[in-house]
Amino acid sequence: MIVYKTAAEVEAMRASARIVAQILDELGAMIQPGLRTSDLDAYAERRARELGARPAFKGYRGYPASLCVSINEEVIHGIPSSHRILREGDIASLDFGAFAGGFYGDAARTYPVGRTSPLALRLIAAAERAFAEGVAQFVEGRRLSDISAAVQRSVEASGFSVVRSFVGHGIGQELHEEPQVPNFGFPGRGPKLHRGLVLAIEPMIAAGDWDVEILSDGWTAVTKDRGLAAHFEETVALTAAGAEVLSRRDGTSARTGGKELSYA
Ligand code: CO
Repeated sequence: MIVYKTAAEVEAMRASARIVAQILDELGAMIQPGLRTSDLDAYAERRARELGARPAFKGYRGYPASLCVSINEEVIHGIPSSHRILREGDIASLDFGAFAGGFYGDAARTYPVGRTSPLALRLIAAAERAFAEGVAQFVEGRRLSDISAAVQRSVEASGFSVVRSFVGHGIGQELHEEPQVPNFGFPGRGPKLHRGLVLAIEPMIAAGDWDVEILSDGWTAVTKDRGLAAHFEETVALTAAGAEVLSRRDGTSARTGGKELSYA
């Protein structure tokens, strides 16, 4: 069952999503060679509590941390550790969720650590661009898989591949609600998009093949070919004014490949 949100509920979701945005912005500014991923996790948890939120991931299905930090070939669900240190040239995907005022927010970005390869920078830009192309289809009257198809088309046009075994999702009073939002598929399928729908749209993309496997820690998803991966996620609401990216501090636009795009 899809739970559509009222305007007042979307307003409440703005608050939790903006806490996520603020914390990710702060974490992004901390990224540098030598940093332990456990330091990012501790900071995220402390800031969430300071801002009146609960970290959404800690304890979720037994996940042991507040933040996911997935480096290089790690796609998602990398577990922070004091033994894992960011190194010059890495790319680090940070995924954070917060619960406040009865609602969840969820977002992720991939950051370069110091100077990285041109390929890594192109991959990061492609994940953001694919997200923007997906959001451009988040319009009343379109169908859910129009988002999926647009993401896939964009990623593949960039010469990269879309991870299949993880998907975006509805979000609200639960972290994961219906519907599932795959990053691939044929357009014109699935439920019609109506105002009140709030989605976590989250392309996970690979420089090489899209096949992934889970490491022995039971969480970390890595590309099987160990090629680089990137992840870009925002909590997005379909309102009377159109698609609104909630997990951005300006609320109505996302920085995409250095260009400001407006979705209203
Ligand atoms: Co998510």
